[in-house]
Amino acid sequence: MVDVLLGLQWGDEGKGKIVDYLAPNYQIVARFQGGPNAGHTLYLDGKKVVLHTIPSGIFHKDIINLIGNGVVIDPVTLQKEISRVREAGGTVGENLLVSRKAHLIMPTHKILDAASEQAKGKKKIGSTLKGIGPAYMDKTGRNGLRVGDIESNDFIKKYNSLKEKHLKLLSIYDYEFDLSDLEKEWLESIENLKKLNFVDSEFYINQQINAGKKVLAEGAQGSMLDIEFGTYPFVTSSNTLTSGACQGLGIAPTKIGEVIGISKAYCTRVGGGPFPTELDNDEGQKLRDLGGEYGATTGRPRRCGWIDLPALRYAIMLNGVTQLVITKADILNEFKTLKACNTYLVNGKETNDFPYSINENVIEAKFDEIEGWNCHINHLSNEIPQKLGDYLKYLEENLKTPIKILSVGPNREELLEL
Ligand code: GDP
Ligand code: IMO
Ligand code: MG
Repeated sequence: MVDVLLGLQWGDEGKGKIVDYLAPNYQIVARFQGGPNAGHTLYLDGKKVVLHTIPSGIFHKDIINLIGNGVVIDPVTLQKEISRVREAGGTVGENLLVSRKAHLIMPTHKILDAASEQAKGKKKIGSTLKGIGPAYMDKTGRNGLRVGDIESNDFIKKYNSLKEKHLKLLSIYDYEFDLSDLEKEWLESIENLKKLNFVDSEFYINQQINAGKKVLAEGAQGSMLDIEFGTYPFVTSSNTLTSGACQGLGIAPTKIGEVIGISKAYCTRVGGGPFPTELDNDEGQKLRDLGGEYGATTGRPRRCGWIDLPALRYAIMLNGVTQLVITKADILNEFKTLKACNTYLVNGKETNDFPYSINENVIEAKFDEIEGWNCHINHLSNEIPQKLGDYLKYLEENLKTPIKILSVGPNREELLEL
């Protein structure tokens, strides 16, 4: 069986921490989409490690970590990440498998990403500039270079041919770049990538499932950044939903068991695009300061706001979420009053649903007020303060989904199973 764990907001919900916590219940942890735009943070004995491409089960002995076909891989980032995992005491060897069908991010993809963003000016997406959009464009455009191509004799020929195409594309932009160092580093890291275990991952994973092994599929980004249903065009270029796990691993929908959806107790977004519950004020800054809301990949300050229930209900519907994880409840300890958006006003009319456009000209968030618990909760036992319990009950009632885990700190053990 495959359980799927994914973010229900605009990313950074705490997926890495929860996957690391749940991993011992599984034999395989698999990433199914995205690439180094992701930044999944783990704390190991108080030491911080950020993973970008490697699944968050890597620090557990005896667990296989699979980078699935739906992922786009930058070999340079991956190589650096492997070094950091080893420095932090992790093992990378037989326990890391890479799908032959995963696509490669080339240096020119990164340059194209930057050139495209610059050309968009004020309308830019706020991409992480990791080459994600251009790499997925080549995938769907049927031009892409895959991990399996590295094993063929004409790999360099294929690389050069796609690079030439990119250089022609780049000539339409007024964008200066120097490819030589980037290309040298990339080609060297391809040699290192060859040392990893390439697999026909769709066969591998189905064989393992048939043998009774349990798989945890680890989402990247968040549901509201999904290419189909997110806040288009301010989205990423992959399928971040449960359905993406089927595509990105080669598993049938009938193999999916639990769908674990994660949300912060409030909400954040990094990059451009609409954010109905955003707090562009001192309260937002307080959330940013207390929550350390700065991007794990780019370091950019994250936009902060109150929890958005219409958006969460939409994400729960699209993913078929069976259980919720609420993270970063501890960040709300000092707020006397909490707010939660339960309805939107669309052109002045109330709706509980998620409309086609959530542009600020069209919709306004309406808030419920909830009393805060105003005490420290990082070392919760089974007793939770009543007001925190009331908040969780409010969320469960309005989201019609049970909360199974409450996370109250960045460390592995700082959570409560409810
Ligand atoms: P991901 O991309 O979903 O894995 O999330 P990120 O790692 O980008 O961002 C989540 C941040 O919140 C990281 O710095 C985590 O260490 C931290 N974090 C996760 N859960 C909690 C929690 O319950 N409380 C606090 N204070 N921090 C948390
Ligand atoms: P994790 O897995 C938060 C955002 C970017 C930008 C948009 C498109 O850590 O939750 P891209 O680089 O994909 O072209 O950027 O998506 N974005 C993320 N925001 N967390 C992430 O990943 C993100 N990955 C991409 O900021 O707005
Ligand atoms: Mg992140």
